[in-house]
Amino acid sequence: MFQHLTSIVAIDRHGAIGCKNRLPWSIKSDMAFFRKSTMGKSIIMGRKTYESIGGCLKGRHNLVLSHNSRVFESSETCRLVNSVKEALAAATQQGGAETFVIGGATTYSEFAPYVDRYLATIVDHSAADADAFLDEHVVSEFNRWQAHEIARFPAVSGQDEFAFKIVEFSAPDAHERVEMRKALANRFLEKHLNQVHAKGRSKATKDKSAQAAYSF
Ligand SMILES: NC(=O)c1ccc[n+]([C@@H]2O[C@H](COP(=O)([O-])OP(=O)(O)OC[C@H]3O[C@@H](n4cnc5c(N)ncnc54)[C@H](OP(=O)(O)O)[C@@H]3O)[C@@H](O)[C@H]2O)c1
Repeated sequence: MFQHLTSIVAIDRHGAIGCKNRLPWSIKSDMAFFRKSTMGKSIIMGRKTYESIGGCLKGRHNLVLSHNSRVFESSETCRLVNSVKEALAAATQQGGAETFVIGGATTYSEFAPYVDRYLATIVDHSAADADAFLDEHVVSEFNRWQAHEIARFPAVSGQDEFAFKIVEFSAPDAHERVEMRKALANRFLEKHLNQVHAKGRSKATKDKSAQAAYSF
């Protein structure tokens, strides 16, 4: 199980994150921070964010949540998953120390109980037409979590539309959250294994090789 599950998100002063399935701003320095933070890692996103980005992101192991198994054909680095627990199981099997939840609003909310860290870009702006927001419950959690300011950037014409700061928030109960993730991912893997057994399609046994039987 990966050590950190981090939601990486950019919000305005009121928790807005999106408008008409797009970001409400153009901040290139923050995109560079996002790229650097997530490169080489597993990333989990909702189907609408996948569509907003225009596909899977290169150099990362993409897990795209949808109830519809026909959104696209899964490949090794761009995979459809249809539940929170399947996403966690897939990320676990992928290995690595950290997995990122990259949005959008629904997906951040669904993973909120399991996330132990936020990398939050706080944009000095109020997006007038926003229609996607980070859950109020999540925003209020930030007040209880340990905060560490990573960087501050001014607005720069043609580069960063608004000033912003990047803050890391760490959960006080990170250990419990890791355990919850583990339990959920294992439940998924066990159920999957049982289905494989029931169908008689695998010789997998309920030992350590069980997890390998769920091949991504
Ligand atoms: N500011 C930021 O940092 C940031 C980052 C990312 C996105 N955004 C913004 O967020 C907005 C999109 O957010 P959103 O809430 O509308 O959409 P979303 O979270 O990106 O995607 C929602 C979709 O994901 C699938 N999904 C979610 N939970 C699932 C589950 N448990 N099981 C199976 N499928 C599940 C469903 O797809 P199906 O309908 O196919 O079943 C659902 O309709 C956009 O405006 C985008 O620009 C902002």
